[in-house]
Amino acid sequence: KSKGRKHLEHPINYHLIKKEKHTGARLGKLETPNGTFETPMFMPVGTQATVKAMSPEELKKIGAGVILSNTYHLWLRPGSDLIEEAGGLHKFMNWDQGILTDSGGFQVFSLADSREITEEGVHFRSHLDGSKLFLTPEKSIQIQNELGSDIMMSFDECPPFDESYDYMKKSIERTTRWAERGLNAHNNWEKQGLFGIVQGGGYKDLRLQHVRDLTSMDFSGYSIGGLSVGETHEEMYEVLDYLTPELPEDKTRYLMGVGTPAALIESVIRGVDIFDCVLPTRIARNGTAMTSQGRVVIKNAVHARDWGPLDPKCDCDTCQNYSRGYLRHLIKTDEILGMRLISIHNLRFLIHLMEQVREAIREDNLLEFKEAFFEEYGYNEP
Ligand code: GUN
Ligand code: ZN
Repeated sequence: KSKGRKHLEHPINYHLIKKEKHTGARLGKLETPNGTFETPMFMPVGTQATVKAMSPEELKKIGAGVILSNTYHLWLRPGSDLIEEAGGLHKFMNWDQGILTDSGGFQVFSLADSREITEEGVHFRSHLDGSKLFLTPEKSIQIQNELGSDIMMSFDECPPFDESYDYMKKSIERTTRWAERGLNAHNNWEKQGLFGIVQGGGYKDLRLQHVRDLTSMDFSGYSIGGLSVGETHEEMYEVLDYLTPELPEDKTRYLMGVGTPAALIESVIRGVDIFDCVLPTRIARNGTAMTSQGRVVIKNAVHARDWGPLDPKCDCDTCQNYSRGYLRHLIKTDEILGMRLISIHNLRFLIHLMEQVREAIREDNLLEFKEAFFEEYGYNEP
């Protein structure tokens, strides 16, 4: 069946605009049924059909294009059948731009209780009520078809980075079979693309084998999984160094779960196109801001009488209208507005960073941009 779809058009297309002269960075366009977006791009995370504390109107205003949501969470609650009844995830949450859904593979391993992996799928217990559930590659695709996301992910296993070679080899081979089963189960190729997810931990030959196996199938794009799971930054960059050159030039490359400024810039330099991470919204809710001068912990006493903006170089509504002193007060008193305002700022910071990165690729001065950025931000700042 997967061979049979080769002549079909993909609903998700990548257009390479240009390569940066001195690095592996790519400027491109990601075409989806709900809009075309310039890459490199950062995708805010909206696990529960909401980017926490942000309205879709606010997301649009800061320039968000594609957001990420989760099969695992929405299947458990409110149920993908209910979202299908609502007219799909876009309509349900009032988001008319792109939506990418993760397959549930990663979440089953990180959230669910008492997992058992078989060839057929993963048995586990819900982290909400302990009920017994079974997720398979076909079921994951069926749920994502019901959600109606623009970009779906294959159901994968994401073993720890330092898993043994023998286990990892068996795991990627099973993930390949799961990926093929997912391709065959997908029944909405007109409106939804499907990405394969490359695993293999830190084993070069396994990573390369998995790329070969997945690129021999006709996916709409390729995700790089199993990174940012406890390995060092250097180990992650090394994997990207040998992996991205093996990925097809005419398909999107998505590095899953990565979102510190340093990792974004270093990974763009190694040829990655899209990213997602909970970091900006998660740290915002406890009062930590990413700013052009590095992280700001707003609760600190130094900000109590600071009437200047969170980040003088930022164009977001928070920085235009509110002072550090006021934001500190809101976070100290656990006011919802404080979390909202810093979420708006942190997401705008990363989206603006990617706008600057795209401009630098256009101008062939990404390495100069990187140096200037880290001069101010601090390279070792997470
Ligand atoms: N999110 C972050 N890493 C991964 C991964 O390896 N697989 C999946 N499905 N989602 C992820
Ligand atoms: Zn701001």
